[in-house]
Amino acid sequence: MFMSKLILETVNLTLKIEDKIIFQNINLKIEKGTIHALIGVNGCGKSSIASVLMGLKKPSSGEILLEGESIVDLSITERAQKGLTLAWQEPVRFEGLSVKDYLSISRKTKNEKSIKDALESVGLISEKYLERFVDDTLSGGERKRVELASILLMKPKVAILDEIDSGVDFIGIDKVLDTIRKIAQNGSVLLITHQDEFLKIADKATLICNGNILRTGEPQEISKFYRYECTYCVDENNPDLALEELLNVNR
Ligand SMILES: Nc1ncnc2c1ncn2[C@@H]1O[C@H](COP(=O)(O)OP(=O)(O)OP(=O)(O)O)[C@@H](O)[C@H]1O
Ligand SMILES: [Mg+2]
Repeated sequence: MFMSKLILETVNLTLKIEDKIIFQNINLKIEKGTIHALIGVNGCGKSSIASVLMGLKKPSSGEILLEGESIVDLSITERAQKGLTLAWQEPVRFEGLSVKDYLSISRKTKNEKSIKDALESVGLISEKYLERFVDDTLSGGERKRVELASILLMKPKVAILDEIDSGVDFIGIDKVLDTIRKIAQNGSVLLITHQDEFLKIADKATLICNGNILRTGEPQEISKFYRYECTYCVDENNPDLALEELLNVNR
């Protein structure tokens, strides 16, 4: 029997809010066990794609397939039960919930050691953090790391990580990178990022421009194109025309 290599696929996924196209005709193909980076300038549509994948927003049209099955009509909870998870761009915040309890919810084993290991994996000393609260008494970077630890424990089929690196200091970045690699040992990762360092651990990258996929391919190649050749969209006087030109050039 033919087994697809794809874990998550979108087919012509489109989101319009009122008359505004937030993104259109997104055809993403995420392979099993891989890290797929999603990059692009502020406001190009990355977080909106993540929200629609997780079910927080309904697409205007298009399909989302998880292991070949449509999940587009499923609720957030049903998608989570099928193994999809999303770490928001904004750091998590749960008033009154301790780090220990938050991580206990997500772990799949009853082993307390695994919680400690997950915290250490993201570079947080467990003795210092287990009794702290997942609220704004933890810094944004700390909450980002706690959330990543929870995803490591959760072992999702697909983890969508929306700028999990934002606010994490440069020493912590290596720990975050290692943890993302560990998550990808059990599943796949859609990694939304602005950092080149994160592209280095990706197997593939997709560049979004004005809500369209501009290119998908080898991360370093995509990054180089984004940095040095992707200049058409900067034409603020006529962004749509510039995008059309760019899409034609790169087709
Ligand atoms: N509810 C909404 N109504 C109108 N416009 C919206 C709405 N939600 C998002 N947008 C717009 O959609 C575009 C894409 O936003 P999105 O948050 O997906 O960008 P992004 O690529 O994640 O950017 P960043 O890198 O800054 O996080 C932006 O121009 C944003 O203002
Ligand atoms: Mg965003």
